[in-house]
Amino acid sequence: MMSANAFPLFPEAASTMAAQVDYFYFFLIAVSLFFIIIISGMLIGFSVKYRRRPGNTVGHRIHGSTLLEVAWSIIPFGLTMVIFAWGTWLFFGFARPPDNAHEVFVVGKQWMWKLQHMEGKREINELHVPVGQSVKLTMTSEDVLHSFYVPAFRVKFDVLPGRYTTAWFNAIKPGEYHLFCAEFCGTEHSGMIGKVVVMEPAAYQTWLAQPAPIVPLTGATSASASGALPPVVAGEALFTQKACITCHQPQSGALGPSLVGVAGSAVKLANGQTVIADDAYLRESILNPTGKVVAGFQPVMPTFQGQLSEEQLMQLIQYIKSLQAPAPPGQGVAQAKPGADLDS
Ligand code: CUA
Repeated sequence: MMSANAFPLFPEAASTMAAQVDYFYFFLIAVSLFFIIIISGMLIGFSVKYRRRPGNTVGHRIHGSTLLEVAWSIIPFGLTMVIFAWGTWLFFGFARPPDNAHEVFVVGKQWMWKLQHMEGKREINELHVPVGQSVKLTMTSEDVLHSFYVPAFRVKFDVLPGRYTTAWFNAIKPGEYHLFCAEFCGTEHSGMIGKVVVMEPAAYQTWLAQPAPIVPLTGATSASASGALPPVVAGEALFTQKACITCHQPQSGALGPSLVGVAGSAVKLANGQTVIADDAYLRESILNPTGKVVAGFQPVMPTFQGQLSEEQLMQLIQYIKSLQAPAPPGQGVAQAKPGADLDS
């Protein structure tokens, strides 16, 4: 880390992607510098060399140069294509979290970051992660646009109300790193800051096993209801409490489609379209059930808009995603809960 009184011109590179982003950034700077020097150098040099002098007041007429024009079209085209390909490659690198990533759910609200680990631990404005492990963030907002920004990881992604965005990083150095909100979100936007604490794996496991301190916060409604249960366990309770279980049963003839194995699968809709049941689809189907009705079912599900917090929605989605085992006939909803062993 930078010492506290140093003036950091450039953020530390503390994630696997950080160096990749920096190389690209330096390349852009180098290309820009090259053209700034060549263009301003020629501008100044030619102004001096071809300035108006006695006996030489009228310039030559030049009728174009095919060679020159081809060169200054092809070279910049090639350069922009390199920038495009390189930038796209980086973009896809950021867009695809590795499969084995540790998952963290992030809710932005005016003006704080609420985070929850899939093991159940909650944090406010702090994120503890193990070093050398990919961490995937699934993010949404309770109110306005925010942006999750950790300069040392070169990670900056918008956090939007009503939508999930994802980001990921793999921290390479233990330490504490700034977390900022990088989207103006109201009067206390500049105070919407926190830190990411990167720990050695053993220290992280110790931290994870400690009971979370109860943080009394206005607006953290679902925290009281579900404590620090793993989201999948809290989601299972909600599934019964909100009576989802009444209609969403695995056997055929149930009022709603079975949710076993639905997460990540291709779902045929009543209108003939097929959609992939990702987090966004599951979320939409809870809040706006008549929007994308599954083929073979009636649009009879009531909306849960306004009845579930973002945390509860995430818990339900995690529970639905855990329903992957084939259902034994006549036993209700099959359960294969990752993390259920942590439920005590
Ligand atoms: Cu949240 Cu700025």
